[in-house]
Amino acid sequence: MYILGIETSCDETAAAVVKDGRQVLSNVVASQIEEHRLYGGVVPEIASRRHAEAISGVVAKALREAGLAVEDMDGIAVTHAPGLIGALLVGVNFAKGLAIAANKPLIPTHHLRSHIAANFLAHPELKPPFLCLVVSGGHSHIVLAEDYTRFSVIGRTRDDAAGECFDKAARAMGMPYPGGVALDNEAEKGDPAAFSFPRPHVEGSRYDFSFSGLKTAVLNLLHNAEQKGEMLNRADVCASFRAAVVDMLTENFLKAAQDTGMKTLVLAGGVSANKGLRTRLTAECEKKGLTLYAPPLSLCGDNGAMVAAQGYYELLAGHTAGPDLNAIASLPIDKL
Ligand code: KG4
Ligand code: ZN
Repeated sequence: MYILGIETSCDETAAAVVKDGRQVLSNVVASQIEEHRLYGGVVPEIASRRHAEAISGVVAKALREAGLAVEDMDGIAVTHAPGLIGALLVGVNFAKGLAIAANKPLIPTHHLRSHIAANFLAHPELKPPFLCLVVSGGHSHIVLAEDYTRFSVIGRTRDDAAGECFDKAARAMGMPYPGGVALDNEAEKGDPAAFSFPRPHVEGSRYDFSFSGLKTAVLNLLHNAEQKGEMLNRADVCASFRAAVVDMLTENFLKAAQDTGMKTLVLAGGVSANKGLRTRLTAECEKKGLTLYAPPLSLCGDNGAMVAAQGYYELLAGHTAGPDLNAIASLPIDKL
């Protein structure tokens, strides 16, 4: 079965064709990051307009590169939630029009489910059930994937998402948006023990995260140094900050693995590209006899292939929509 996947939830206009949920035939991403960088973050109004300009060309290119036509598709999957509402609406309306015109099933696809499905494209042997750490710019969740389309949230952030926390710390150090990857690269050169940052726990929850205390701690460190005219070693600040985020994510994820008895762990979302997180989790899983999967770097960020992969499983489960499909800015991963 061939699925066309369309993604416009944030700042990438993306489309891809995937065969049987596992084999990428094309994967086209048009990024708007350069433009949003001028403003230090994604400007929703600009994002919607750029999606509207790019969507038609991106979808045509994805079909062309796959050597297929829309008539060959078995379904059209589109990210309908969660995300920036104006941005989502562009993809949803485009997919609706295409589905009606070509008389194909329309498949509403949850963005975080798609991030998880990015792993299916690189790891043919991976099958649910597994425990997943979904860490992106907007979300930080520990999710039990009971099946391809059945999830339960075990832990979540009470405030900032991990990616947001990386981006805010990076911005305070003068790195351009989105600073997560720059901070990660800088951290490679520093000493993770140079500064001691807090690793706050959420009272009464074994698995929830709270990053706001850590964010405040790094901002305070930088402001105090600036006021005193002190020069901090930036690589050391980055390495120490990254170590704190990685500790917090790893600790709760491994606790959840132990408590649920899950032996297969999966990383997903933009922050799954983080070198510190990948290295640490790889080492811990090896020690504990757990199997860890992570998407290749090329599929960690937003893309259409992951939407098509998840869309395939949603279609098999009969999850399709009519022409009244709406976009939803905020929707839990366990709801459709
Ligand atoms: O999943 P994603 O592309 O978009 C959302 O669905 O939010 O995630 C983007 C987030 C940004 O906050 C970005 O800074 C972060 O992922 N990110 C990283 C790295 N690469 C991307 N954070 C830390 N280390 C990285 N290497
Ligand atoms: Zn994403």
